[in-house]
Amino acid sequence: MTEQLDMNRIPQHVAIIMDGNGRWAAERGKERSFGHQAGVDTVRRITSECVRLGVKYLTLYTFSTENWNRPTDEISALMGLVLSSLEDEIFMKNNVRFQVIGDIERLPEVVQEKLRETESHTSDNDAMTMVVALSYSSRWEITKALRDMISEGVKPEDVTEAFVTAHLETKDMPDPELLIRTGGELRISNYLLWQIAYSELYFCDTYWPDFGEEDLRRAILSYQSRQRRFGKTEEQIENEQNSK
Ligand code: IPE
Ligand code: IPE
Ligand code: MG
Repeated sequence: MTEQLDMNRIPQHVAIIMDGNGRWAAERGKERSFGHQAGVDTVRRITSECVRLGVKYLTLYTFSTENWNRPTDEISALMGLVLSSLEDEIFMKNNVRFQVIGDIERLPEVVQEKLRETESHTSDNDAMTMVVALSYSSRWEITKALRDMISEGVKPEDVTEAFVTAHLETKDMPDPELLIRTGGELRISNYLLWQIAYSELYFCDTYWPDFGEEDLRRAILSYQSRQRRFGKTEEQIENEQNSK
């Protein structure tokens, strides 16, 4: 399938809602945390594949603000996994920079420290940036941006789209061209609402632990088969392409 991919049109930024770990485990008669553990292996495989394909930003929805409402033992298991999976070696081997977005202060101190440490150890890596959304939700992010703007004493006329973008957690990143959700649900669940205004959406039934390199390539292929019009007509887009 790789042959069919246009390597000149690989999305710069791929965002993923990694869903279906719990159902994957349940199908095997196991605890939900078993599914989360398997999900970590998928993160490794998909990260390496993104680097190989030349993706520049991979943004992974790992724990949402709403996930704080899950049973405490599941939350603890997830925090433990975040801690144990942040091995410098993996980032160094792939030349991947690690970055976190979200309300980090709600996380256990030891997790916060590990996150900051991993960010600083990997800050010079430049093949790709892996962004992990932890204790993140889009409404939290936008509300925080509004608060920050007001406390800076910003004047109404200064509030442009670019200015709002610059107050978001994702301020230094391009918007995702492609958003993938695994696990069969057809919703966004409070993820990157501002940033995905014009993203191509790709939903698949595969549970995250089963999502492989081939599935990722299929999603990118689907993205490449679409015409992104940004409000213009098909004819305008074709003329623009022909004049290049
Ligand atoms: C996604 O898998 C991972 C997190 C939300 C942490 P789920 O845990 O939501 O799995 P399902 O959707 O219940 O199968
Ligand atoms: C979205 O999955 C959050 C993450 C993948 C981290 P959920 O499983 O929490 O979403 P809902 O509750 O089904 O919308
Ligand atoms: Mg889910």
